[in-house]
Amino acid sequence: MRAHEAGALHADIGIRVPAWLSRPRDVNTLMPLLWSSTARKNEDGALEVGGVDMRELAAEHGTAAYVLDEQDFRERAAAFRDAFSAYDVYYAGKAFLCTTVAQWVAEEGLRLDVCSAGELTVALRAGFDASKIGYHGNNKTTDELRRAVEAGVGRIIVDSFQEIDRLSAVTEELGKTASVMIRVTAGVEAHTHEYIATAHEDQKFGFSITSGDAYEAVRRVDGAGSLHLLGLHSHIGSQIFDTSGFEVAARRVLTLHARVAHELGIEMPEMGLGGGFGIAYTMQDDPADPSRLAAEITTIVEHECAGFGLPVPALSIEPGRAIVGPSVCTLYEVGTVKPVALDAGAVRTYVSVDGGMSDNIRTALYDADYSCTLASRRSDVEPVLGRIVGKHCEAGDIIVKDEFVPADIAPGDLMAVPATGAYCRSMASNYNHALRPPVIAVADGKSRVIVRRETEDDLLRTDVGA
Ligand code: LLP
Repeated sequence: MRAHEAGALHADIGIRVPAWLSRPRDVNTLMPLLWSSTARKNEDGALEVGGVDMRELAAEHGTAAYVLDEQDFRERAAAFRDAFSAYDVYYAGKAFLCTTVAQWVAEEGLRLDVCSAGELTVALRAGFDASKIGYHGNNKTTDELRRAVEAGVGRIIVDSFQEIDRLSAVTEELGKTASVMIRVTAGVEAHTHEYIATAHEDQKFGFSITSGDAYEAVRRVDGAGSLHLLGLHSHIGSQIFDTSGFEVAARRVLTLHARVAHELGIEMPEMGLGGGFGIAYTMQDDPADPSRLAAEITTIVEHECAGFGLPVPALSIEPGRAIVGPSVCTLYEVGTVKPVALDAGAVRTYVSVDGGMSDNIRTALYDADYSCTLASRRSDVEPVLGRIVGKHCEAGDIIVKDEFVPADIAPGDLMAVPATGAYCRSMASNYNHALRPPVIAVADGKSRVIVRRETEDDLLRTDVGA
């Protein structure tokens, strides 16, 4: 590798196509795994989602826009509900939540996981049955706990000894009870393609099983007259493909569950296994479908419970990304196209679009990979290695690091990035005073705004200076 004035890292990534990325045989085709179920290229080569041509959607609603395929969302929610029919399935609202989506979640028979007062407010505004809401968070304030208890939230997942004290004070003050799960740290940290089963106690969430804190938390919740102990809860990470991480976690959590039953005589009726099921962002990802996940996870838990001579507790899961992630693509308009010469004669085509790290921070924050397609027409020229970047004032403002794009890509073209439903709108910012894009639901050939585009008035609303 030659030295490079920007450093070895830049030289290295500058000229190489990632190993997983292959040149497409036809740049006009979609890879179905990455797209929502109704997405297709029409006769003109334009992208259509929910029967809506993206050229029309852009003309009517502008770009950048998150395009949410309602049928696909409902299908994925129903697939989890049906595959995990013996479980309670909570949709994790942190991935993306608005009142319309909360209503779809309720209509599809799922429960809802919230982790902040804001998410709870959206859920209640949508008329979501509070008894079917679970409330997470490592630092819920007394006010937040009071609101949750007053609203009748179905389960509160406690995360610290202080919170147990706070919650029992709140319930006593209100003369109510709260059903509680105890978030435990199973010592497993799972990532996209791997899990690590040691030394991951060094983080803010949960009660450590190994230190004995989790056991003590069980004793304290059980001893608090106004708290009803449901069981233990573990969440091992996100974008996980390998169920062996769940296996190790389940074994450790069930070991504690059994110890509590045998030593304290407390049979906890429930157990929460969290979320984290991975989706395909690019051709390198190969996620399992919900029925395979359900079969594998259930086998693991049943096997472990049998080993301890215990009945299987009522189980719950909390998928977020795996439901909403693939249901959304982000539609952008291309503003500038700049071929940039790299080392060894290689060229990377930088395609700037009318969005960026303010609507998708995941590439910059997690080094995430995405894909994209030309959404407004077909192209019959050879594709070139491209990089989709935003309009923010920093070089790390990258949306799609590596993808083959048509060599004739030009200003005015529409570009769509799939699998942006989870943790994109929900983590969007106003960086550079960008206006956050709308969420447009599409179904049956129609589009409707479910979260509108921000305006400059929205930006100025909190600015009380002038
Ligand atoms: N349950 C709990 C307790 C969680 O903390 C999470 C996610 C979920 C369920 C849902 O996980 P999912 O099924 O969506 O993977 N911003 C990151 C992901 C953070 C996940 C936080 N917790 C990202 O963009 O990859």
